[in-house]
Amino acid sequence: MKKILGVVVVLGFAGLCVWIWAVSNNKVVFGYNKGYMPDQPLPFSHQLHAGQYQIDCKYCHTSVEVSRHASVPSLNICMNCHMVVKTDSPWIQKLTEAYNSGQSIAWQKVHLLPDHVKFNHSLHIKAGKECTTCHGNVAEMSKIYQNSSLAMGWCVNCHRLPENHAPTTCGTCHY
Ligand code: HEC
Ligand code: HEC
Ligand code: HEC
Ligand code: HEC
Ligand code: HEC
Repeated sequence: MKKILGVVVVLGFAGLCVWIWAVSNNKVVFGYNKGYMPDQPLPFSHQLHAGQYQIDCKYCHTSVEVSRHASVPSLNICMNCHMVVKTDSPWIQKLTEAYNSGQSIAWQKVHLLPDHVKFNHSLHIKAGKECTTCHGNVAEMSKIYQNSSLAMGWCVNCHRLPENHAPTTCGTCHY
């Protein structure tokens, strides 16, 4: 009996350790991926580019005001600067190699709504919503992560605010 109890305690402790490791390393994420922060192929820093160097979000995410999706920049936008900036960095050399051989960088998607949901950036920007309202203070993120839950309740709660005059029928957000 004592032996069995001992084994149970040891297994329980091991399980707890694995759980703590998984949560603290973003292997398990609570809610709807809030806090999700996938590894990226290059250490691109918003804190450096949008924060310290104050490059406008729309300089890189060019389609955010005019389309459903906010485009992720192609390499020629990076090369506008990195043809000459920091060319001694191995990361910039990797960027330049990809650019010269016509390849792209396989950025990992951070935000991903289910297929049955429709979201539209341009309509929210036209209604005066700031990037920070939904994405948090990106200019302070050295590695970007999902700031909001993106749960249905999160969308609907904002649509319900009287000042927003935003529709709340199911068909607004669902196909
Ligand atoms: C009302 C909330 C909201 C605002 C305001 C907003 N976003 Fe988003 N953003 C989202 C959601 C939700 C997604 C996930 C969309 C999806 O998966 O289809 C997203 C996704 C993105 C993506 C990934 C590409 C894409 O379109 O799926 C980028 C890049 C992005 N946003 C940039 C911006 C920038 C830059 C601004 C400000 C100019 C901005 N967003 C304003 C909610 C918002
Ligand atoms: C408007 C100019 C500009 C644009 C556009 C730009 N960058 Fe940068 N980037 C900089 C500056 C300035 C630095 C800091 C250089 C330094 O530390 O001396 C930098 C640094 C970096 C670094 C860090 C390099 C290192 O080893 O320290 C990476 C990686 C990087 N940029 C990637 C990118 C990528 C990817 C893009 C395109 C999505 C991009 N940059 C677009 C100006 C720019
Ligand atoms: C110099 C170019 C550049 C600037 C300026 C920039 N971004 Fe980005 N952004 C990128 C790149 C490249 C990625 C993809 C790599 C990554 O996720 O780190 C990205 C990713 C994102 C994503 C996550 C996309 C996804 O996969 O869901 C969001 C949200 C975002 N940016 C918002 C912003 C906001 C808000 C600003 C302004 C405060 C901004 N960005 C400024 C280049 C830029
Ligand atoms: C910060 C507040 C806020 C959040 C969060 C938000 N929305 Fe909106 N949404 C608005 C406003 C304001 C409008 C614009 C209403 C108008 O002017 O037509 C709007 C409009 C829309 C429209 C266009 C409606 C139409 O006119 O047909 C869709 C679709 C939409 N939102 C989906 C979403 C989804 C899906 C989410 C969550 C992933 C979301 N929204 C999160 C405030 C918000
Ligand atoms: C303002 C946008 C918005 C409106 C309005 C809205 N939804 Fe959703 N809904 C979402 C988003 C975003 C998700 C995905 C995230 C989630 O599951 O919470 C979702 C998810 C769902 C799901 C899947 C839940 C799951 O567990 O997979 C169902 C079912 C659903 N909605 C039904 C409805 C019905 C019925 C209505 C009308 C009464 C409605 N929705 C109105 C944004 C909206």
